[in-house]
Amino acid sequence: MITSMPSPLRVGIAGATGYAGQELVRLLARHPGVRLTTAMSSGSGETRRLPALARIWDGDMFPLDLDVLAASCDVVFLGLPEKSAAGVGPALVDRGLRVIDLSGAFRLRQDGPRQRWYPETTNLPAGTLYALPERSHGALPAARLVSCPGCYPTAALLALQPLADAGLLDGDIVVDAKSGMSGAGKAPSDRTHFSENHGSVAAYGVFSHRHTAEMDQELGRAVTFVPHLVPLNRGILETIYGRLTPGATAAAVSDALTRAYADAPFVRLWADALPEIKHVAYTPFCDIGWRVDEPTGRFVIVSVLDNLLKGAASQAVQNLNLMCGLDERAGLL
Ligand SMILES: NC(=O)c1ccc[n+]([C@@H]2O[C@H](COP(=O)([O-])OP(=O)(O)OC[C@H]3O[C@@H](n4cnc5c(N)ncnc54)[C@H](OP(=O)(O)O)[C@@H]3O)[C@@H](O)[C@H]2O)c1
Repeated sequence: MITSMPSPLRVGIAGATGYAGQELVRLLARHPGVRLTTAMSSGSGETRRLPALARIWDGDMFPLDLDVLAASCDVVFLGLPEKSAAGVGPALVDRGLRVIDLSGAFRLRQDGPRQRWYPETTNLPAGTLYALPERSHGALPAARLVSCPGCYPTAALLALQPLADAGLLDGDIVVDAKSGMSGAGKAPSDRTHFSENHGSVAAYGVFSHRHTAEMDQELGRAVTFVPHLVPLNRGILETIYGRLTPGATAAAVSDALTRAYADAPFVRLWADALPEIKHVAYTPFCDIGWRVDEPTGRFVIVSVLDNLLKGAASQAVQNLNLMCGLDERAGLL
């Protein structure tokens, strides 16, 4: 276990000009246990400041430079495209830094799926940990490279893993997801262009979304995952359909979820009162509601979060807090 971390901790962000990176700046600039020393954009372009961050963090955003990060930080957050993170993450770990990565580059443990979905990641550095904070408290202090779960898998795993642990899942599971457009990052595409998605809803990535592999890995079973783009800025809502093992009751579902999250500050359980995106947008929470039809053994769970916070930046800060022995809620509540 790595116990001694400097205080205050010096943190940096690579990819600070992106959607997730800007949320990291907002959180880390007011975090009581850290000093945000360095924020960087891509390797190209000019040093710049972002108007939206004025008086929140007034430092310059420099082009990406690993030497500067190594000299000025103890921990670096990566809000980069996975192709860049695949190289930057191990290079910073080699220089003795600890890394918290928001990309998918280090999420898949098995070579086959990783080569398919993240071919730039040639290996996982020693000390790599896939960390959903609600499940990784104990392991985080020893991690060198923390791989944060994807936004869609976070909502699905928080809902389903307690049921899997309790042996309540039987048969196929369908994760029907709706996401706001910020989930695709700031670079516009044909699909995310305002006039393409405004006034419409579209399914995409059916049987070909890389987050499916992550859900399969963590749940130990194949999931049918269908994401949809909806004309919202932020938020994910997942409607999850499945069957319980024969004889399992609604009370058993409630017990499993209630026990799993009794001490979890960022998971709010609503049982019958199904949550909505507006309840969690701009917050670090994942809200979960559920209904069970006991005669048929079917269940529906609704899980919602803000893709840029609990699905990205606030989850990463939660992992930092647990990794460094700080209050899990520091800088977040
Ligand atoms: N958006 C979400 O909801 C979400 C949720 C969970 C995880 N993630 C993951 O978090 C990461 C960042 O996502 P995002 O949505 O914030 O992306 P984004 O808005 O597109 O921002 C990307 C950031 O990376 C920088 N960058 C782009 N190309 C680069 C390169 N070749 N080398 C170095 N830096 C480069 C950009 O700098 P410039 O400003 O100079 O271009 C910007 O700071 C991605 O891996 C994504 O999969 C995103």
